[in-house]
Amino acid sequence: MKNLKSKSQNSIIFLLASFVMVIFLTAAQTAKWTAPETAKKTANPVPSDATSIGEGKKIYESDCKKCHGKKGMGDGPNASELDKPLDPLNNASMKGQTDGEVFWKITEGRKPMPSGKKTLTEQQRWQVLNYIRTFAK
Ligand code: HEC
Repeated sequence: MKNLKSKSQNSIIFLLASFVMVIFLTAAQTAKWTAPETAKKTANPVPSDATSIGEGKKIYESDCKKCHGKKGMGDGPNASELDKPLDPLNNASMKGQTDGEVFWKITEGRKPMPSGKKTLTEQQRWQVLNYIRTFAK
């Protein structure tokens, strides 16, 4: 009997713990996505010229357009499968971020956005950043 009791106590504790976990994970998912302080200061080593923007456009069209849309308006063919609408990549939030912060986001990704760490070289990540900056111009 004693054994049985501690078993049911254990399952209650397990249930409570799972419940708390779910709440934390949901909160983490809906929280605003911010890059760490250290990322802010990373300077963009790749000049924003015709060459890097041209290369960035190719990367964007193969890896990003499906979600973010042709002009970054969040209207790509896969956007409708995402949980929430995408903010346009030319908005005030983007303008308020340094190149280093946006580079960090492209590098790390955040579900459902894939991380660019393995699929793109550092140079390619800066190039695609230079390209998406043109949306705001
Ligand atoms: C599977 C769809 C998907 C793909 C593919 C994708 N993204 Fe995203 N992206 C997202 C989502 C969703 C968010 C919002 C994430 C959040 O805020 O939690 C996002 C956010 C961003 C942000 C942050 C915007 C801001 O206001 O801070 C940038 C920059 C970005 N994406 C660039 C890119 C680039 C560049 C690529 C291609 C290399 C790319 N994304 C590919 C879905 C995608």
